[in-house]
Amino acid sequence: MEPVQRKQRIFSGIQPTGVLTLGNYIGALRNFKLLEEEYNCVYSIVDLHAITVRQDPTALRKACFTVMSLYLAVGLDPDKSLIYFQSHVPQHAELAWVLNCFTYMGELSRMTQFKDKSQRHADNINAGLFTYPVLMAADILLYQTDLVPVGADQKQHLELARDVAERFNNLYGPVFVVPQPYIPKVGGRVMSLQDPARKMSKSDPEDTYIAMLDAPDVIRKKLRRAVTDSENCIRYDPENKPGVSNLMNILSTLTGMSYDQITLEYGSKGYGGFKNAVAEAVIEELKPIQARFKEYFADKAYLEQVMTASAQRAQAIAGRTMSKVRRRVGLAPTRL
Ligand code: TYM
Repeated sequence: MEPVQRKQRIFSGIQPTGVLTLGNYIGALRNFKLLEEEYNCVYSIVDLHAITVRQDPTALRKACFTVMSLYLAVGLDPDKSLIYFQSHVPQHAELAWVLNCFTYMGELSRMTQFKDKSQRHADNINAGLFTYPVLMAADILLYQTDLVPVGADQKQHLELARDVAERFNNLYGPVFVVPQPYIPKVGGRVMSLQDPARKMSKSDPEDTYIAMLDAPDVIRKKLRRAVTDSENCIRYDPENKPGVSNLMNILSTLTGMSYDQITLEYGSKGYGGFKNAVAEAVIEELKPIQARFKEYFADKAYLEQVMTASAQRAQAIAGRTMSKVRRRVGLAPTRL
């Protein structure tokens, strides 16, 4: 008889900030769905990470349900994947504390996201912002995760999670699976429409990003105004033509066309025609997602049912890892 192979596990998370961008979609969310059949997937809405910067409580609560609705709208199946709020599984915070004691200040000070965010939120450089990657490592390691689908901006955090897992395993024996990143070659870094040297980000002005819930006209307008160059030539060359290459990147992930095919097809149509084609591809991709989003977002009872059932199943997995961790570090077992 063939040995039964355990499906490998995936963990990923997205922060519940009001708007998810086309970068979040292409870099991460789209792959969540593509990987769902092949893996056991755990997809969290990481609300504890979100409070490392000041949030309006009402808006945060709403954003949590918005992101959950988007998870469902891209087609994730809650019978197959766990879809829950991070704060509903207390083991995330518990393991984060333990791992804090195995992570060095020097490692955390090298994190580029921390440096960026402390510049942007200079009035609130709190300890949570600093130890953010440790909570992220805890998220991943709790579920004995094999693979983590993320955009390229999370690579450094993933490397830290691997280092911490290996350090812990070297001290206490094989407690954690050491996770691998899954960063798409095309689409791992979607750039700003106005400054293609920067990644597309919801913390930049609105005309620099496309939101997953933008109306078709807004998408057309933002893409029409996207920064390109004066060469009027459609060629993939991220160094010299970052704007055009970014749009080619977007079109290529959404349609499956190669860069050569794109050059061939749109080369003679000028930047106007090319930008229109990118806009129509984005609109077509997002249209069904937006329609399903509306339905899910209006069905609070269903969302609550998904979040509760998933959190219960997540707690069972996380609880097993936490018991192991407690035993190995020498915390007395609970009888609660
Ligand atoms: P967050 O919420 O900033 O972004 C969610 C996901 O979207 C990807 N992403 C992008 N990909 C390509 N191009 C872009 N311009 C772009 N912008 C964002 C991010 O790489 C990410 O995959 N720390 C994480 C959330 C997190 C997490 C985790 C992820 C918490 N715990 C455990 C994986 C595993 C974050 O802030 O993502």
